[in-house]
Amino acid sequence: MLESMMLKGGIIMNIWNVFTVVRGAIIAITLVVLMGHNPTSAQETRKITPNYLRCEYRVNPLGIDVALPRLSWVVESNERSQKQTAYRILVAGSPEKLNQNTGDLWDTGKVKSDETIHIAYGGKPLKSRMFAYWKVQVWDGQDMPSAWSETALWSTGLLKAEDWMAEWIGYDVPLSNRQKLDLQLQAANVHYKRFKCVYLPSPYLRTDFHLDKAVRRAVVYVTALGLYELHLNGRRVGNDYFTPGWSDYRKRVYYQTYDVTDLLRPGGENVVGAILSDGWYAGNISNQGQRHYGDKLRLRLQMHIEYEDGSEQVVASDGNWRASDGAIREGDIQDGETYDSRREMVGWSGQNFDDNGWKPVVTDDNIKIMVQAYPGIPVHGTMEIKPIALTEPKPSVFVYNLGQNFSGWARLRVRGKAGDKVVLRFAEMLNPDGTIYTTNLRGARATDTYILKGGGEEVWEPRFTFHGFQYVEVTGYPGKPDMETITGIVAHSDLPVVGSFECSNPLVNKLYSNIVWGQRSNYFEVPTDCPQRDERLGWTGDAQVFVRTASYNMDIGAFFTKWLVDLEDGQFEDGSFPSVAPTVHGGTAAGWGDAGVVCPWTIHRVYGDTRILEKHYDAMVRWVDFLDQRSKGHFSPPLGSWGDWLHIDAPTPLELIATAYFARSASLMADMARAVGRDGEAEKYEKMFNDISSAFTNRFVTSDGKVYGDTQTAYLMALGFNLLPDKMRPRAAERLVDRLRERDWRLSTGFLGLNLLLPTLTKVGRIDLAYRLLTNREFPSWGYTIDQGATTIWERWNSFTKENGFNDPGMNSFNHYAFGSVGEWMFSTLAGIDTDGAGFKRIIIRPQPGGDITWVRAGYNSIRGNIAVEWKFEGDDLILNTTIPANTTATVYIPAKNEGDVTESKGPAGQSPGVRLLRMESGAAVFEIGSGSYSFVSKGAKSILMQKH
Ligand code: BGC
Repeated sequence: MLESMMLKGGIIMNIWNVFTVVRGAIIAITLVVLMGHNPTSAQETRKITPNYLRCEYRVNPLGIDVALPRLSWVVESNERSQKQTAYRILVAGSPEKLNQNTGDLWDTGKVKSDETIHIAYGGKPLKSRMFAYWKVQVWDGQDMPSAWSETALWSTGLLKAEDWMAEWIGYDVPLSNRQKLDLQLQAANVHYKRFKCVYLPSPYLRTDFHLDKAVRRAVVYVTALGLYELHLNGRRVGNDYFTPGWSDYRKRVYYQTYDVTDLLRPGGENVVGAILSDGWYAGNISNQGQRHYGDKLRLRLQMHIEYEDGSEQVVASDGNWRASDGAIREGDIQDGETYDSRREMVGWSGQNFDDNGWKPVVTDDNIKIMVQAYPGIPVHGTMEIKPIALTEPKPSVFVYNLGQNFSGWARLRVRGKAGDKVVLRFAEMLNPDGTIYTTNLRGARATDTYILKGGGEEVWEPRFTFHGFQYVEVTGYPGKPDMETITGIVAHSDLPVVGSFECSNPLVNKLYSNIVWGQRSNYFEVPTDCPQRDERLGWTGDAQVFVRTASYNMDIGAFFTKWLVDLEDGQFEDGSFPSVAPTVHGGTAAGWGDAGVVCPWTIHRVYGDTRILEKHYDAMVRWVDFLDQRSKGHFSPPLGSWGDWLHIDAPTPLELIATAYFARSASLMADMARAVGRDGEAEKYEKMFNDISSAFTNRFVTSDGKVYGDTQTAYLMALGFNLLPDKMRPRAAERLVDRLRERDWRLSTGFLGLNLLLPTLTKVGRIDLAYRLLTNREFPSWGYTIDQGATTIWERWNSFTKENGFNDPGMNSFNHYAFGSVGEWMFSTLAGIDTDGAGFKRIIIRPQPGGDITWVRAGYNSIRGNIAVEWKFEGDDLILNTTIPANTTATVYIPAKNEGDVTESKGPAGQSPGVRLLRMESGAAVFEIGSGSYSFVSKGAKSILMQKH
């Protein structure tokens, strides 16, 4: 597998690719030179360094419209117990000023504080289109200052609606009579809309403008109804795909901001252009058919060019632009792209192109949608995958196996004559005869078609579609394709990877890989359920059961900042949160709507982000009010009909699930109310939680601990959500174990029960069973899917079984992350990395070895820096090496008979620098450590652990 950044469009774009990288390097070097990263010898002796500066979760974000953006950094040090005791932030309007240590926008002075995250900007009011350069200096535990950090920046976007002068423009491609009729029928009849697609060619839009002076900086703000791909002087701008992203277009659309200074050509003609495509706005969405939000593709673009002499020019979309259709004949996220390269308009976005044949654009002044800065993380091509096998199951039908199920598309390499038509179809699985299995894609056509222009090698990738697949079928290929013909391009929201996990058991490693691939494939603008069939929706239940796992794998801060807006935008009048966000169809359900509470709570817990709680607080209150109002005596009637979705023959009563989740939402509300300083409300929600728990126990639990429904999930909710009085817990735990035993230690839980399963077994003292389930290979289990060749997490335990083959194709995805929610336990318990309170300021290091696993190596790059844990058995001893970031502390639990059996760096642990013995607790010596790296050995720990299993 080859990691590389990619741009589409063959040779020209590949050159641009190189250019982009070089340009990035030049910018980096210039920043260093301009911005005064001048390492001095004094710095070498400094004990502490501020690093990895972020603004609103992102590194050097452009075009932010948050009024008071929040700044974060990590503190690095090689020393134990090193702390930050103060900081000073400087924010300047130019790198030169910052270089002179002048914070003309904000100079905090020395602030006594150990805070390093989410520090809200408090300087001069920010105006539109400003660049702010910033750096930070920190003081260590001995009040010694660090060197200044490297310089970071952010820029503001168009902060007021009036800042937009650009018009919405588009090109309504002329229609045939047939197309007109079909569109009318689509508009009149939803059924027709779903089954009769009308694809229209992509509009290409362009304008030229003259630059006669030296340019200091040019920044473009751009959005579309539909998708856009932006070009400037023959080059693609940036490397984002599927811009402007998917939002609830009934309310808002986002714009992106790009610094295009280096793409301009002072002293002559310049050309800016864009290609539009249907995307989520006008293309197929779920199974709802096309044109869900609207049918007219529109572009809005505003480029601000500042000259060296201080004057400014604005190039904006307006009625002077010209338009044409071109090579992209069809473009649909689900159905695929059709590209006729004979219709390519070579050089269409460059100088000296004759656009006489092009038509005037239309301008549209009826569009009232809110336009805001994109707060998320864009989709990128992140990896290339080479095929591992090529077969020909039928004459001239070639099938490539890429060895991995993923989301993205394929790059085609072909030689032939003009008019040859190569068709690519995509699938997750094969039929027994080796042909591709596409029935489970339902209505998604998932077909890309390339028509050759002839005359040499042609390299093509689609731009406006993605597929979920492992196999590519190639037909119509002129001659015999080879292993170079197809390359898989992995595409998804390009979130920073923060987790790593490896252990001695290859099955568990494969499970971890499958979880990460499930996330990679489905964190695509929104957390989707699946990337392949005609669904691909932001299912809220799936999102909430997986969110904590997701946060261990990738930095999901910005991604959820965006998606929680989608979720709130979809909140219904009655206060209920939707089952999918952005909301495409109606309804809520227990465990789905609760995502509106669980996800903000999780983001707060992981990133210490209180602003996200404040922002969504009222919406969350409305949700809990909704639950409260429909409840009867604190007991909830069924809410929705999905229950413990996709359980195996173990239906849990709907009213039990609804009541349990009602309690869960109330208890998380209490937590969040406290976090934002609303103590009175916290008490109210605590009381609500207690009342619901009592109602739950009275109604659903017998005196001997039998929970209504008597399913694994019923016990998991009762125990996992703390709904039972203490005295009832042991009996309920025994019954949970009975339910597992009677199924021969196999799983039966659905989406809602599963993420509680291993953590609850651990909590009730049966971690041995957690390990047993984790490493089981019998159906139903993760191991079973892996033995059937799974490279991602499947939608169902029985998506495919040896006995029955494929499950019902009406709903059977092989890339659905919900059952991957066990990843949370792998990090928190197997590796033993967790937060104590919000935001990893206090860390818990508590690996709980078990099963046949003899070593684990895991890392988690928290918002405050890197945490590492490595444990292994050596003879009868347990070795635990751990590192925690500067300015944090951790409570470390080390299995031991008594504290005297534990050493650190070969000496008695309790006396080691940075280590303090706290207590013995449940067979573990508990220490507090300050920052740094530690190596603990617990003598004879293996035998103690063995006794537990
Ligand atoms: C989706 C699930 C979702 C479920 C709810 C399915 O079609 O794929 O992920 O949670 O519907 O019923």
